[in-house]
Amino acid sequence: MNALKGSSARKEAPHDISGTNFAAYRAGSVVLDYKNSTDLQPAERAILTSLQSKFRNKRILDIGVGSGRTTSHLLDISKNYIGIDYSPEMIKVCKERYPSVDFEVRDARSLSDIADDSFDLILFSFNGIDYVSHSDRMLILAEIARVLSKSGAFIFSSHNRNAKVRKPWDLSNLRRNPSGGPIFVPTSVLRYGIGIMRHSMRAKFETQTDEYAIINDPGNGYRLLTYYIGIRQQLQQLECAGFGDIQAFNRQGKQMQENEYNCCADGWIYYRCYAR
Ligand SMILES: C[S@@+](CC[C@H](N)C(=O)[O-])C[C@H]1O[C@@H](n2cnc3c(N)ncnc32)[C@H](O)[C@@H]1O
Repeated sequence: MNALKGSSARKEAPHDISGTNFAAYRAGSVVLDYKNSTDLQPAERAILTSLQSKFRNKRILDIGVGSGRTTSHLLDISKNYIGIDYSPEMIKVCKERYPSVDFEVRDARSLSDIADDSFDLILFSFNGIDYVSHSDRMLILAEIARVLSKSGAFIFSSHNRNAKVRKPWDLSNLRRNPSGGPIFVPTSVLRYGIGIMRHSMRAKFETQTDEYAIINDPGNGYRLLTYYIGIRQQLQQLECAGFGDIQAFNRQGKQMQENEYNCCADGWIYYRCYAR
């Protein structure tokens, strides 16, 4: 852990991205975007299907639960479940959707009061780990490895540095009106302008290092500063944090081979690993 702290301090982005991202995940319009989502993504379905018998009735921690998209699927595996998120607004939605389930407003960077070996399966779904600084990411990975039981599994996804990221001025951000009339849908023109405006405020915080990049991407209308990492670098981080038997999956849920790491341009990659 000390060694990780040392390497992260050297490469820290000059701007702490977490303030910008925390504000975004508290915003009413962003919470609304997630409010009714329930479907698992294909890779999540593939990974969870392969693990469900092993983790039946085991202790599950769902970090960055958002509005509870993954909750019902994980409850099917075990009722011994808790969802956490640092956004009180997201947790409020979870509690409305699932009144009898345990949810807590908690920052993934503050797990220190949780005992070692407290959970058997931990998730940080849909790239939630990408919204903290590099040093906080390393802290979170080490803490997850600590609170996970021996042979417990950690599943998450993270943005792929090999992906092409659309700039806000890209015309594909504008939607054409299918029924004739004005060429573009007026709301998409408005969103286009807002996207460019937000980008002009956040672009100065973008960072490129050997290990990772921080990019203002289209997520939630160019509100966020997002961590992007190559597959090899992510595998190294997980090893440093104390995980083993690490496997990367593409967005369709196909297990990736080493020779595919450099050519996969999926927007994000899924990882499944075990505590050692
Ligand atoms: C992209 S959303 C995904 C939400 C949900 N997991 C899903 O798949 O629909 C990322 C979530 O991670 C949460 N998050 C980001 N950083 C966090 C942190 N440090 N601690 C706890 N939650 C965090 C955000 O509030 C947000 O709800």
